[in-house]
Amino acid sequence: MKIAIITGASSGLGREFVRQLGGNSDLDEIWAIARREDRLLELQTLCSVPVRPIPLDLTKVESFDALTALLQSQQPEVAILVCAAGFGRIGLTRAIPSADNDAMIDLNCKAAVAVTTAVLPYLRSGSRVLEICSTAGFQPMPGLNVYAATKAFLQSYTKALHHELLTSGIHVTAVCPYWIRDTEFIPTAQKVDQSGFRHFPLASRARTVVRWALADSRMNLWVSTPGPVCMVHRLAAKFIPHFVMVPLLDLLRRL
Ligand SMILES: NC(=O)c1ccc[n+]([C@@H]2O[C@H](COP(=O)([O-])OP(=O)(O)OC[C@H]3O[C@@H](n4cnc5c(N)ncnc54)[C@H](OP(=O)(O)O)[C@@H]3O)[C@@H](O)[C@H]2O)c1
Repeated sequence: MKIAIITGASSGLGREFVRQLGGNSDLDEIWAIARREDRLLELQTLCSVPVRPIPLDLTKVESFDALTALLQSQQPEVAILVCAAGFGRIGLTRAIPSADNDAMIDLNCKAAVAVTTAVLPYLRSGSRVLEICSTAGFQPMPGLNVYAATKAFLQSYTKALHHELLTSGIHVTAVCPYWIRDTEFIPTAQKVDQSGFRHFPLASRARTVVRWALADSRMNLWVSTPGPVCMVHRLAAKFIPHFVMVPLLDLLRRL
């Protein structure tokens, strides 16, 4: 059985990955993971490929045992893994509750690593892994501090994995989008402190980001910047020293 596994499938980018991969006749099933089972059940209406809803809270250790057990019992070939589950909290560091910081680290870092580790034995030559990072991970970000740090972690992890799996023919890509306007990410991120970022200029759309990310993963890029704004951001973070870039981003977020 050849499958795709997509975390964060109940909304936003994850849901869009299910939709865009859902017409792929090479796949026998799409395994869709998130907490909201009702949303996962709706996904079948978007796809011709059968969707298996797997309701799991990826901040809970027992969820990885459940996923590992399911993989062991089904022995699938995982053609595509997308780790899109993630969330952020906008606000100055002192305003973000410790529990939210822990949850960001648990979901954005630990869960992505645990899911990838569980799936690794089921990848074959030609399989593809997409870890959804962020342009926030290209440099430290005042007003989005812990979130940006989690995405820097995930980007580093993904690049090393890309290199380790290069000779086995497995493509691993760190997808680094800029703000996306039509997902639940921004309203969720603003729940604690709306003053961190007030405007999201030039925000992209989930459909474009996913199409671009899938094309970059086919080309085996280790970093995907899915859109012109992400590309400019990546170049700026590479060539402008962080002691200049960080105050600049702090200024921009206050405008
Ligand atoms: N939108 C942006 O501006 C933006 C920019 C750059 C990067 N990103 C990254 O893109 C990824 C997807 O975000 P999005 O924009 O699509 O946001 P979204 O619409 O809020 O989707 C987040 C997904 O994560 C799932 N999730 C949250 N907590 C979970 C948990 N404890 N266990 C399992 N699943 C959980 C949610 O499902 P349930 O609530 O049903 O569990 C949902 O399906 C994230 O990693 C985000 O950091 C987003």
